[in-house]
Parts: sequence; structure tokens; C-alpha cells
Amino acid sequence: MSEIQLQIDGKVVKATEAMTILEAARSAGISIPTLCNSEKLETYGACRICVVEMESFGTPRLVAACVFPVQKDMVVKTRSERVDRTRKMLLEEMLAHAPDSVELQKLAGEYGADKDRFEKEASFCILCGLCVRYCAEVKKKDALGFVDRGAKREIAFIPEIAAQECWNCKECFPLCPTSALQAAYVLTEALAFPAEKHKQQR
Ligand code: SF4
Ligand code: FES
Repeated sequence: MSEIQLQIDGKVVKATEAMTILEAARSAGISIPTLCNSEKLETYGACRICVVEMESFGTPRLVAACVFPVQKDMVVKTRSERVDRTRKMLLEEMLAHAPDSVELQKLAGEYGADKDRFEKEASFCILCGLCVRYCAEVKKKDALGFVDRGAKREIAFIPEIAAQECWNCKECFPLCPTSALQAAYVLTEALAFPAEKHKQQR
């Protein structure tokens, strides 16, 4: 794998071509916020909070650091007026779904996001997919998935699998950036009312 150099926040960083901007930044001790990323899981690119400004042969543009690969001589800014404005907007949208999330509130404080900007649609889920992917990729159980579309999209446990697997596992709960208790509630609901959650789709 060939080694390249790029610049992140004015610092020259060495990376290999297969790395993402997020990996290169972390290897240089530069922090970028993430909500749907985990080293244990395949990259998903759902939350976009890792947005950074990137310039490589042309106009700077915004890209998701967790999915975008590094390139030789690329110039990356992890904070800029554009980046901060985008993160602020994303956080305000996510807070409409999960207003009590401690992790979101912490980021909101950093980026000046107003948790009351958008009307509350409290599903408590920001669709990061960490729980769903952890169960599928690490546990190989597929005990939960996403149901419905658009604003109604949410996670649901598959009662038949959950009844066998979940109470002794619950490893997905602490991964949730909004509320582990919400996952516990959804699991309890699935086991108590198994007929209501049958529209699973990944
Ligand atoms: S329940 Fe939590 S971990 Fe699962 S998709 Fe929603 S926000 Fe992510
Ligand atoms: S951490 Fe990059 S899109 Fe979520």
C-alpha cells in the first residue's frame, strides 16, 4: 500500500491510500465527531456529522470523512464556517428526533445548535444503524432492522429471533448515541406484542 501525504488542519499527515479522511485524522490525533461510525463495523455514512471541507484539485467541497478516501496532497479542514454550519443544522434535525440524547446535546453545545429549532418528532432514533449493523455484522443474528420509511422510519426487533437471542445479549444497547433505554423499550414491545412489528426491511 503506497504512502501519501495530505494536510489536515494545516498539519502534514502521512497516510496510506486505502485510508479514509477520518482514519488519517485519527492517526494524527485530530478529532472529528462521529455518530454512526464504529471501528467494529463496516462504514455506513449515515449521520454526516463527520462532514469536513476538502480540497483536491479544485473548489473546496464538503465530504463525509468516514467514507471519503484520502488522496495525495489533499487539503482538509475539520472545522470551518461551512463545516460548523452544516454540523449545527444536522444536530438540530437529529435533536428533533432525540431531544434527550446526552451525546447530541454535548455536540449541540459545541456547535451552537438549537435543540428546539425544528418541531419535535421524537422517535428517539437518529437512524445511525449501529444497533442493526452490530447485530448483523458482529453477532450474525439479524434480530433487529429498520421498518417504515421517511419520518416514520425506526428500528424494530424481530420477535421470533429476539425472544431467543436478545435478553442474554443486549450488546447493541450501549452503542446507541441517543438512548439505550429506548432500545430496551423497543425490544420489550417487540416481545410483548410480536404481531405488530412484522415489516422488517434492511
Ligand atoms: S436505536 Fe440508536 S443505535 Fe439503533 S439506529 Fe437508532 S439511534 Fe442508532
Ligand atoms: S460518522 Fe460519518 S456519516 Fe456518520
